[in-house]
Amino acid sequence: MIQQAQFANGVAPEDPRNAVVVLESRGLKKTYGRGEKSICVLADANLTLRQGEMVAIVAPSGAGKSTLLHLLAALDTPTSGTVYFAKKAIESINDAALAEFRNRAIGFLWQRHQLLPDFTAAENVAMPLLVRGEGFASALGMARKWLAEVGLENRADHRAGELSGGEQQRVAIARALVTGPSVLLADEPTGDLDEQNAWAVFELLERLHRTHKLTSLIATHNMALAARCDRILALEHGVLRARETAASASGTPGGEAS
Ligand SMILES: Nc1ncnc2c1ncn2[C@@H]1O[C@H](COP(=O)(O)OP(=O)(O)OP(=O)(O)O)[C@@H](O)[C@H]1O
Ligand SMILES: [Mg+2]
Repeated sequence: MIQQAQFANGVAPEDPRNAVVVLESRGLKKTYGRGEKSICVLADANLTLRQGEMVAIVAPSGAGKSTLLHLLAALDTPTSGTVYFAKKAIESINDAALAEFRNRAIGFLWQRHQLLPDFTAAENVAMPLLVRGEGFASALGMARKWLAEVGLENRADHRAGELSGGEQQRVAIARALVTGPSVLLADEPTGDLDEQNAWAVFELLERLHRTHKLTSLIATHNMALAARCDRILALEHGVLRARETAASASGTPGGEAS
């Protein structure tokens, strides 16, 4: 009886299915172009991301992974449908709050890391803090702390263009997280790396996800890495569908409309 009272609906309090919803999309549609040449990339993408989850999105090239992540980060606007952050429709918030949302709430790891090659690793990581008006010294101090977290304290003063692909991706991870976001959106974070570096970067993301209590959504082609996430969503014909994983077979949350 005690067990029933504690586990209302058969779901334990610490179960991720009880965690608050952080990021959500409903009926998300994105069409590029007009008329005969228009392409419908997202038809009806519904996503419910709960606090603490690490979720993979898998889909072939061109299926719309980047498009979806850009919409979720408010870097682009949907043709129709709504993205909610902490239950609030992001379309309803004003420009200043939107800038704040992009800078503080979401850490975005770009598909192509987009570091500034002539700036040092530390300057690259400090950039989002400088954009939001932080002083140079404190931004650089924070950047160095984050570079140490990703194992690159010795490279802080090297130009980003001189670093290896794996090192550049670590710098990009530090830059995505330096603002202390609650959500990490990562667009194929291991896409350009060899197998060994891909695992190392993924393990780093897993560690940061845990230690910084992030909610993470990771687009990837790599099924072995996706299988390490709490659950996998496949993006097919503009719709998200839950894909069975070892973990989901034993009851991790689903919730995406098909
Ligand atoms: N700004 C744009 N204008 C027109 N079409 C676009 C634009 N951005 C993306 N597309 C098209 O939308 C589709 C989805 O692109 P997207 O980059 O989201 O796919 P993806 O799943 O991220 O692919 P990849 O795995 O290669 O990165 C593609 O057919 C692409 O050509
Ligand atoms: Mg992409």
